[in-house]
Amino acid sequence: MNMYDLIQKKKTGGALTQEEIYWMVNGFTNGEIPDYQMSAMMMAIFFKGMTREETLHLTMSMAKSGEMLDLSKIPGIKADKHSTGGVGDKTSLALLPMVSACGLNIAKMSGRGLGHTGGTIDKLESFPGFRTDISIETFEKNASELGIALMGQTAELAPADKKLYALRDVTATVDQMSLIASSIMSKKLAAGADLIVLDVKTGSGAFMKSEEDSRALGEEMVRIGKDAGRKVSAVISDMDQPLGRAVGNILEVKEAIATLKGEGPQDFTKLCMTLGCQMLLAGGVAGSIDEAEMKLFEVVKNGSALNKLADLVKGQGGDASYVYEPDKLDQAPLKVEVKAPASGFIQRILCDEVGLCSLILGGGRRTKEDVIDLRVGLVLEKKVGDEVREGDVIAVLHAADEKSAGEAMERYLAAVTIGAEKPEERKLIHGIIE
Ligand code: URA
Repeated sequence: MNMYDLIQKKKTGGALTQEEIYWMVNGFTNGEIPDYQMSAMMMAIFFKGMTREETLHLTMSMAKSGEMLDLSKIPGIKADKHSTGGVGDKTSLALLPMVSACGLNIAKMSGRGLGHTGGTIDKLESFPGFRTDISIETFEKNASELGIALMGQTAELAPADKKLYALRDVTATVDQMSLIASSIMSKKLAAGADLIVLDVKTGSGAFMKSEEDSRALGEEMVRIGKDAGRKVSAVISDMDQPLGRAVGNILEVKEAIATLKGEGPQDFTKLCMTLGCQMLLAGGVAGSIDEAEMKLFEVVKNGSALNKLADLVKGQGGDASYVYEPDKLDQAPLKVEVKAPASGFIQRILCDEVGLCSLILGGGRRTKEDVIDLRVGLVLEKKVGDEVREGDVIAVLHAADEKSAGEAMERYLAAVTIGAEKPEERKLIHGIIE
C-alpha cells in the first residue's frame, strides 16, 4: 500500500477500504506518512466526500489510535453530552447535575475554551480547588459513587484526531461534514460512554451557520454512533444569539446555579430540559417526554440537582460551599453599563462578536497557552426581540480594567442592531435527530 495510490484513488472519486483507512491513519499518527501527503488526502476528501462506511472507518481508526476508555466498572448506563460549541453555552454545568440527580451516571470528558467559544473545564475551575486532571480511577470511582464525574481530555485520547485536526486547521479542510463528524465522534467513542447526546448548534455563532448544514452534521454523527453500537441522538439548537444572558466563566457558573434552582433564563432552561429529556429517555430513566420533564422539574424543585453539582465539585477537590453561596465567587473590579444608542427593537446580536467581547475582556483564549481571567465577561440585559429606549442598559460588562472595557463596549455596540420593526422570533430547538 502506498499513500500516492490512495490519494489518486480518492481524487478520482473512489472509496477507500477499511484496510486502507486504518493503514493511512496509523501511518500518519506514527509519523510515517508526511503532512504534505495527508494534506492532499484531506483536500481530495473535501472535494469528493466519503461514503458512510469510509466515515465510520475513519472515525473508528482515529478513536483506536490511542486509549479507548473502558467504563464497564461503572455500573449502569454511562451518559455523555457534547456541544459543537457556542457563546454563553454553560449547558453542561446545569444539565449534567440535573440528569445525574434523575439517576443517570455521567462520565464525561470535556475541553477548554478556544477563540470565541468557552469550555466547561475552565468554567468548573471557577470553584476554588476544583480539579479536572483527576486519575481515571477517581473518574470511575466518582461516576460510580456520586453518579457524576468530569475530566479534562487526556493527550492519549484519539491522538490521530489531534494531529489531523491541527493539519486541517492550516490547510482549509476543516469544514467538510465527514471530517468534522469523524473528528468529534472519534473522541466521544474513545471516551467510552454508552449514551451520547449531541447539541449541534446552528446560526451565526455556530460552527455550522445554516440549519441544513447543522442537521446534516447531526445526522452524520448519529449514524456513526449507531454504526459503532452506541445510543446517540442530536438536538439542533439555536446559536444565533448568545445562550442565556451570561457570557464569561464565573458569570456563566452563576447563571447555571440559578438555573439549577429554577431561576435561570427561559431559553437556557428550555435547552437543558430538551437535552435532559433526550438523555433520560435514551437511558431508560423515563418512558416518555412527559415523565422525563416531570423528573427534571422535580430534581430542580427539591434541590437534588443543585446538590449534585455540589457533589461534583466536592468530589473533585473543589469547595462546594460556593455552589450554595455563588456570590462568594470572584468578581471583576469594574462593571460598565452599555446603553442603547437608539430606541426600537433589538433585531440582531452577532454571536461571534459577543464571544470576542469576552475575549477582549480577558475571558477567552487566542492561543492554547493564554491564561484567562475567570471573573470577566458580559451580562446581556436585553436580547433579540426586546424593546428598548435610547439610554436603556442593554448589557453590563464585567471588566478587569478601563482599557479592555472601552474596547469591548465599542465592539458590543457594533454587534447589536436596533431597528423599528420587531424581528421574527427564531426557534430555540430546530429539530431532534434520534
Ligand atoms: N470540533 C472538532 O472536534 N473537530 C472538528 O473537526 C470540528 C470541530
